[in-house]
Amino acid sequence: MTRNRRPLVAIYPGSFDPLTNGHLDLISRGGSLVDHLIVAILQNTEKQPLFTIDERIGMIREAVAGLNNVEVDTFEGLLVDYAARRGANAILRGIRAVSDYETELQMALLNRRMRPETETIFLMAREEYSFISSRMIKEIITLGGDAGSFVPANVANRLRAKFPALG
Ligand code: PNS
Repeated sequence: MTRNRRPLVAIYPGSFDPLTNGHLDLISRGGSLVDHLIVAILQNTEKQPLFTIDERIGMIREAVAGLNNVEVDTFEGLLVDYAARRGANAILRGIRAVSDYETELQMALLNRRMRPETETIFLMAREEYSFISSRMIKEIITLGGDAGSFVPANVANRLRAKFPALG
């Protein structure tokens, strides 16, 4: 059977402040399923990010350097508008636990209502990463803990450089 579908271009959106092992696993697994994956960092309004947008771009680019079909970009405004601009037909999101489901369902349904041609694809987080979140990592860091084992090595190095007290 000949399949004539157009290339599957997916966007993996998020704040990535910082990129975690769970994110990287999702990028790698998601990237292997689609033709092109765009990791899109939201240029959000958070007042006290751990890392600037440029730092996050740099760290994610380093971490995905071996993945040929993965690109790193930023966006502002509505995700569906960005998807339209980029010609993306899918949004990739990860689900760690039931607690993620409600928000993810809401986002997926809103996005589908606004742009039905963009389908949200969910991947379950690997169990060993299911408890990791950027928010918790940020909290550990700002309270003086070492979150090095929850993030890729290059991110851990940047964390240690930025917060030398962690040793
Ligand atoms: O890393 P996060 O915080 O889970 O990512 C949330 C993100 C960036 C996917 C979401 O906040 C988003 O898509 N924001 C863009 C604004 C938008 O489109 N909002 C309406 C759909 S919920």
